[in-house]
Amino acid sequence: MFIESPRYTERFGSVRMSHAQRVISLDSGAKRRPHSHGAIGVKRIDEETIRHFEDRMAIVIPIKDEKLRLLEGVVSGVPHDCLVIVVSNSQRERVDRFRMEGDVLDQLCRFTLRQALIIHQKDPAIARAATEANYVDLLDEDGLVRDGKGEAMIIGLIAAKVAGKEYVGFIDADNYFPGSVLEYVRNYAAGFSLAQSPYSMVRILWRYKPKISAGLYFKKWGRISEITNRYLNSLISTKTGFETEVVTTGNAGEHAMSMQLAEILPFASAYAVESQELISLFENFGGILPTKESKVIEQGIDILQIETRNPHLHEERGNQHLNEILLSSMSTIYHSPLCDKEVRQAILAELINQGILKDGELPAPVHINSPLSKVKVDKFVNVIRKHSDKYHVLH
Ligand code: GDD
Repeated sequence: MFIESPRYTERFGSVRMSHAQRVISLDSGAKRRPHSHGAIGVKRIDEETIRHFEDRMAIVIPIKDEKLRLLEGVVSGVPHDCLVIVVSNSQRERVDRFRMEGDVLDQLCRFTLRQALIIHQKDPAIARAATEANYVDLLDEDGLVRDGKGEAMIIGLIAAKVAGKEYVGFIDADNYFPGSVLEYVRNYAAGFSLAQSPYSMVRILWRYKPKISAGLYFKKWGRISEITNRYLNSLISTKTGFETEVVTTGNAGEHAMSMQLAEILPFASAYAVESQELISLFENFGGILPTKESKVIEQGIDILQIETRNPHLHEERGNQHLNEILLSSMSTIYHSPLCDKEVRQAILAELINQGILKDGELPAPVHINSPLSKVKVDKFVNVIRKHSDKYHVLH
């Protein structure tokens, strides 16, 4: 693949965040030719390098009651050497959708002779593992794992750890284009190959997110992402004293990280997860608040943002759902100790203006699950390993 070289990298303490890099061409040929590294300002990432990272990567697909055809399409787009881990919170009663998801996965894996795992978020064995690991944050009042996409990501991460994977990528199950999924994973691999630190993250910026309104319109920004990015950038600008537009992936559902970074990162509940990841990195390693992780500070953290070639098309769930995502994302910024009075006032005004909060109301803080490094993750890993036959698609 050919990708723009990181043009400009901004630094906040130990965090290095690159401005979005465009994918220029999806393929760069198999043969090494003279000068095949690409023109000035362009990087060629060869297939061997992409394969190297794919082989070490698990792709976690969180799913809750999606169309089976979409799940099948998403899995079919994941490169063969990645381990697929589906974490489901779909209904089991009346119609057992979880079972149907397992059947779809099983069929695809049989046809293509690949392995995959599928785990239900509400499996009591997972809750028992969380209890043994003293990971009570993850549990709800019924003693089962809480609802939410963020929580599904944590279970996926632990399963990836059990499988010995070094990188984990997340891809929503409601993507319409398998070809986009293939590109996301290749972009993850390309990003990791460019990172300098073992603590690295790759976030996908969609080239277009088409809307259907009197024809197909290739819209660049979603309503939510535009607003979240603006306030994440404001938060950084007020701390550095220099206005920035570096953050363009505040809500990137499609993103990936090295296991080393994943283990030290707190994960917010549900849809707050992606923006909280950035906030936590700025809080813990941005050089403003104190931190104890000297090893991480030494190596730094690389955040790469990669703009795709493919457009992104996913299920549209209406305004109330979008408001829920926006409110939780803004809450992560609002409640950060890095957020000053001016940005807080602006966030409140924005949420009131959007009709999400009423005058005088404040965004409720989001639930944040501790990083894996703060719980007895080995105990969690052991319990999952014990049950691993149950989670493997091809026994
Ligand atoms: N396991 C599990 N558990 N999966 C869930 C849950 C849950 O409680 N809730 C949602 N999911 C799955 C959905 O089935 C889908 O595959 C994925 O998580 C994303 O959820 P959506 O409800 O489809 O979110 P969205 O498409 O509106 O928003 C996505 O994009 C936003 C950026 O535009 C999400 O990735 C957001 O987190 C992101 O901010």
